[in-house]
Amino acid sequence: MSDRHTAIQSIVDSHRTERGALLSILEAVQRTSDHNYLSKEELVLVAKALQVPLSTVYSVATFYAFFNLKPQGEHVITVCRGTACHTRGSKPLLLQVLKQLDLQLDEDGTATTDDVRFSVHTVACFGQCAMAPVIAIDSVIHSRVTEQKLTQMLQLLLEGKEVS
Ligand code: FES
Repeated sequence: MSDRHTAIQSIVDSHRTERGALLSILEAVQRTSDHNYLSKEELVLVAKALQVPLSTVYSVATFYAFFNLKPQGEHVITVCRGTACHTRGSKPLLLQVLKQLDLQLDEDGTATTDDVRFSVHTVACFGQCAMAPVIAIDSVIHSRVTEQKLTQMLQLLLEGKEVS
């Protein structure tokens, strides 16, 4: 049994009797994964350990937006594409992020650099419309973002510095 297999079995055992166990198990599996995502192999291991169909595990993993099915970058940049942010220029900001990181969004609306340093996501609304356009970097909300401010923040990240 691999170390990861053992770790997943232990996560399943510790949550097995809880209500909503599958959700808690998937959260723990993702949290303890190398790149904050649920791999196909891990979903299979969870299904086997819980003795439920893989389709059940897969449907929960795909229903909740906070589960990732692909490796996530060390830094996650989320650009709001809601109406308020759109009218205040979020599309050019998104294109700027993608260009600066040399990325293209996949069909699921996300992208990750090959070195797994950066992931780009979009969101329908952060609920901060008065502060549009809004971008989150590593879950920290930045409001009224301009192209200049975004360039500076991305440069700091690329240099391995913190964005405040
Ligand atoms: S539309 Fe962007 S925060 Fe609401």
